[in-house]
Amino acid sequence: MKAKAAEKTSKRAPSPRRSPSVDEVPTVSRLSPRVPAAHKGIVSGVVVTPAQIRRRVHELARAIQSDFGDREWVVVALLNGSVLFVADLVRELHGPLILDFIGVSSYGDGTESGNLVYTKDLKLEVAGRDVLVVDDILDTGRTLSEVIRRLRSLGAQRIRTCVLLDKPSRRVVKQGADYIGFQIPDWFVVGYGLDYAERYRHLPFIGVLRPEVIAAAARERVR
Ligand code: PRP
Repeated sequence: MKAKAAEKTSKRAPSPRRSPSVDEVPTVSRLSPRVPAAHKGIVSGVVVTPAQIRRRVHELARAIQSDFGDREWVVVALLNGSVLFVADLVRELHGPLILDFIGVSSYGDGTESGNLVYTKDLKLEVAGRDVLVVDDILDTGRTLSEVIRRLRSLGAQRIRTCVLLDKPSRRVVKQGADYIGFQIPDWFVVGYGLDYAERYRHLPFIGVLRPEVIAAAARERVR
């Protein structure tokens, strides 16, 4: 499926050099039951394997590199979820780029997006610069939309967005991304940076969290 042109985050036309494979966003509709033994009690199935992540990160990086060209740009990664993804992505990019982080969190009940709170501001100057915002997942769209608003208010010249996962069925705010790793259904996923109550970010793959884990955590909370 193509990333929606109508939801572009910049008025400038996309580069004609853009790689065709990046617009063909893989849609994951089935889970693999091949869960590593150590994590069988946490996830019920694998959404994306480490090898699939590696291949897709490589494709995304090629397209980004080709679009951004030779002028130094700022990669802005959103903490905490994007940490593993951005670490792999920037190592596939030749640049020239500089890297910074914004801390932004939505506080809800652990599985729902709530109010946004900034936990860390940018260190680098973005005024007049090209910016690539990197996040792990585009869900309701509130986080990315708010961060784009903030970057615009700081004077960023061109803003492009890259997310590893997109859950289009969950969108509340009209917000797309320019580079998307995988589209997934409304599954609660963890791993490769994605958490449940701050846990499971370290898993090297992305999997669907077992409902029993959520139920057990809820019982813990009421104790
Ligand atoms: C998650 C995720 C995205 C955001 C997407 O962050 O990392 O930033 O939610 O959701 P949205 O599209 O509904 O706004 P979270 O606030 O859970 O913080 P985290 O990155 O520290 O996990």
